Amino acid sequence: MRALLIAGNWKMNPATVAAAAGLARAVKAGVGQETTVHIVVCPASVHLSLIDQILEGSPLGLGGQNMHWKTEGAYTGELSAAMLVDIGCTHVILGHSERRHGMGETDRMVNDKLMAALGVGLIPIVCLGETKDERLGDRTEAVLLTQLSGSLAGLEPEAMARVVLAYEPVWAIGTGLTASPEQAQAAHAFIRGWLAQQFGQATADHVVVQYGGSVKPDNALELLSCPDIDGALVGGASLKAADFLAITECGRQAARRKSGKTH
Ligand code: 13P
Repeated sequence: MRALLIAGNWKMNPATVAAAAGLARAVKAGVGQETTVHIVVCPASVHLSLIDQILEGSPLGLGGQNMHWKTEGAYTGELSAAMLVDIGCTHVILGHSERRHGMGETDRMVNDKLMAALGVGLIPIVCLGETKDERLGDRTEAVLLTQLSGSLAGLEPEAMARVVLAYEPVWAIGTGLTASPEQAQAAHAFIRGWLAQQFGQATADHVVVQYGGSVKPDNALELLSCPDIDGALVGGASLKAADFLAITECGRQAARRKSGKTH
């Protein structure tokens, strides 16, 4: 069975070092030594170093929110994959829709970043998802196909098995609108079917596919219980420790359901 992965994408929040540290301490205390589900926090890059120190001794992973594909050099304002590893990161979010749509990030760029991340042992969380117009125009699967084939181009099955995908319908991000469990499950099953075609069933069965888009404590259990939803990439609700911890508890319950345990 795939272990569930719950990740908090803090985006450009909280505003101060003190608030970020407080959030990290509260999440660490709430998670304790629990490892039934894998849990990762992805703070702003300026907070990574401090939060790595705060998380010491905890099973929590640490993720960057973006990186450059080059290993070093004259790239003002950028971060390399090796810098993220050096500072203590285990994961990195790539191709988030706020970067695809707000910063012009292309599948080609995501693919280059993916290769660089894998090259230094970071676990990439590659984001995919359709806009509202694309869904209304019945183009969801076509968009996912383009993003999957472009972002994951050139990967061998062994490398694919180290990649996490996050299906985040753009219309559900930060809007309070969530894909229904049926809509999300259908998209995840489509993604897993494509993975099976390209990389074989064993790899497809292994790859963790998270859902993201207005995941909250009151909708997380239903989403996470869907057979092809293996975790959540949480934005707004990850900024309140109590909400994020409640979502991780939903992850534990969903994992128990999926393993057939009743307690
Ligand atoms: P919200 O949970 O705020 O909708 O954000 C989702 C997201 O973009 C996570 O990467």
